Amino acid sequence: LLSALREELGLRSVKDGCSPQGQCGCCTVLVDGVARVACVTAVRRVAGSQVTTVDGLDPTVRDPLVAAIVARGGSQCGFCTPGIVCRLAALGPDPDPGALERALLAHLCRCTGWRGLLAAGRAWQPASPASQGIVDPEAAYRRAALEGGTAQTVGTEAALGRAGFADDLAPPGAMVAVPSSDGGWSIGETLAAARAGSGWPPGRRSGRALSWPVALPEGDWAVRLQTTWVEPAYLEPDASWCRPGGIPASSTGNGGAFGAKRDGRVGAAARRLADEYGRPVRVLYTREDVVRLGPKRPPVAIGLRADGSGVVRVARTDGIVPAITAAGRGLVVEEVDVAGPPTSSALRAAGWAEVTVALAGLAASRDGRVGGGVGAATVTSPLGACAEAEVHTDGAGAPTDVRVSLSCGPVLDEVVVRSYAVGAAHMALGWVLSEGLAVDERGVPVDLTIRSFGVLRARDTPPIEIRLLEGGAEPVNGSDAVFAAVAAATWIALGLPPRWPIARAVAVS
Ligand code: FES
Ligand code: FES
Repeated sequence: LLSALREELGLRSVKDGCSPQGQCGCCTVLVDGVARVACVTAVRRVAGSQVTTVDGLDPTVRDPLVAAIVARGGSQCGFCTPGIVCRLAALGPDPDPGALERALLAHLCRCTGWRGLLAAGRAWQPASPASQGIVDPEAAYRRAALEGGTAQTVGTEAALGRAGFADDLAPPGAMVAVPSSDGGWSIGETLAAARAGSGWPPGRRSGRALSWPVALPEGDWAVRLQTTWVEPAYLEPDASWCRPGGIPASSTGNGGAFGAKRDGRVGAAARRLADEYGRPVRVLYTREDVVRLGPKRPPVAIGLRADGSGVVRVARTDGIVPAITAAGRGLVVEEVDVAGPPTSSALRAAGWAEVTVALAGLAASRDGRVGGGVGAATVTSPLGACAEAEVHTDGAGAPTDVRVSLSCGPVLDEVVVRSYAVGAAHMALGWVLSEGLAVDERGVPVDLTIRSFGVLRARDTPPIEIRLLEGGAEPVNGSDAVFAAVAAATWIALGLPPRWPIARAVAVS
């Protein structure tokens, strides 16, 4: 059904985040009023049924629902949002909290940390007056660009999935290219034909345990931290398109990549293939391609002595050593060669967050503030943003409450700042607790499904309160400081276990 809607009918509000895995919810539509994941729905099964995309929803339902999502910061890049709008529209207003959390189990949102979506899902009312929208769009865009690290629009159009994703804007009739298993490109007249020729077997979940590829040397470490490969898990797969002799479409059409998608590979391929075939060419990754080819957060091994000296070992990554050195002056930094997927120092706070977290853990252990289900940490980012985080966990180690105070210069747009801060807190919780990418003995990723990375679901995400503080003359990115502060506070609350993600490290050992 996804192919029929998106490829044959050209309905580009129906997004493809993982097809045919059926795990992200981006392709959700209504079939006779019931939410269905289109990429795993056979088109013959809907013969005679009414299929409704977000564009066809009753405006007296859709518009107040989308306005409620925008007003509560429940959409950023907007790639996941059209499917979620369909699901919540089918659920109806005033759902009980359990039903709302269950409804969102079918979806993933990597940007917003769920809390705005949960609040909107409870609050919206059909036919309610249109919201005032964004007070100052320019200020909101500026803040979103600072937080997302790339040009980004916000508001109703973005929440409806119309924010300019590359593959949505490709001209009809363009050829399609996808990565092939021989390292080249599989080209076809249709997406189905290109994928059929790619030579890749379908992605699957291997069940293989995580590994901690960077070893820590022996030492009298007061604090130890090892991390694994972490997938950025952005929802919009890399995509571009180009006409012969043209400029390739940006693969970061509306942000949401957290520093990834910067290798330009899909754009370069689109330009080269368009020139070669003399026709417009779409180039796009499957979810499995993103996992195989996209950059991961570099694993580290950090050991700190009680006097603050220590060592940071990090998997080979261009530009990572200066980021670590700046945050951990006096520490010995070693880049080590390990077998594994590509990494990038451009991913959110890579390197400096790890060192900052380790130093915060050491400070907490010196002060006797470790464990007991409560952790607190204050982090100042290289750009000067300051975040103070307090995290509470229950007896099973699950987070129950996150409170953050954030100072990042003039706020510009309160909804946007909060949304990015909540999203960063959600990502930090996942990083510490559950996120990791399994690789085989050659370092090749083996878990290629989007549910295998451990992204926290809506029902596992605790309330996250963001208090905004004035301070600083210039606006700077604040969400990276929140990311590091919440990670540190969570780790401290749980007693500084030496391997992340903690929940899966415990399960393995
Ligand atoms: S694209 Fe259908 S669930 Fe992800
Ligand atoms: S807004 Fe949900 S994935 Fe970006």
